[in-house]
Amino acid sequence: MHLLSPSILTADLLRVGQAIEFINQSQADWIHIDVMDGLFVPNISFGFPLIEAVKKASVKPLDVHLMIVEPERYIERFRKSGADILTIHYEASRHLHRSIQSIHAEGMKAGVALNPHTPVEVLTDILPFIDMVLVMSVNPGFGGQKFIGHTYRKLLRLKSMISEINPDVLIQVDGGVDLSNFRQLIEAGVDVLVAGNAVFGAASPIDTICKLKAEV
Ligand code: DX5
Ligand code: ZN
Repeated sequence: MHLLSPSILTADLLRVGQAIEFINQSQADWIHIDVMDGLFVPNISFGFPLIEAVKKASVKPLDVHLMIVEPERYIERFRKSGADILTIHYEASRHLHRSIQSIHAEGMKAGVALNPHTPVEVLTDILPFIDMVLVMSVNPGFGGQKFIGHTYRKLLRLKSMISEINPDVLIQVDGGVDLSNFRQLIEAGVDVLVAGNAVFGAASPIDTICKLKAEV
């Protein structure tokens, strides 16, 4: 069964508590929190205070996606704020292996994210050490963008690398995931779906979460 990690990026910020309540009561598995620094991506989103607040209200693990340069500077802070899974970008961390070690030393699961232009093959030598690969299926920075179809080819290649090198690694896909494409993504080997707009832009977030969790 695949996992679902609703992204609160496009939730109504005056009602974040309600969004967390929806997620708590739903079949969602994790809560996806997008952290943007205005440098790695052309947008600024959430910081530590929001993560701490969400942690207090959430009964689900916090899946924190860092779109920040030099993420190694803040690994301990994110753990203290409540992150359970911490994903950093391949493009943002010069000493990725060391950063992964630090994430594990803090007791978190470690993910590596790839921008749409980054080939999955760059992960060959880090796959033995990580828990998850996040494949960006839009350019990071904003919710509500259109899914990039080329992602399927990357998923195919990534799946075969993972089976060969470290079958325990989860594949997460992030960006433009909705009711029209989630089945095809699961069939392509995706283990964790992130969905922002599809959930929080819907008339009934709980109902949409239920549909996105349907057996494929
Ligand atoms: C984009 C973020 C995504 C975003 C996805 O940079 O990493 O997590 O919230 O939003 P949707 O599902 O609306 O594309
Ligand atoms: Zn994300």
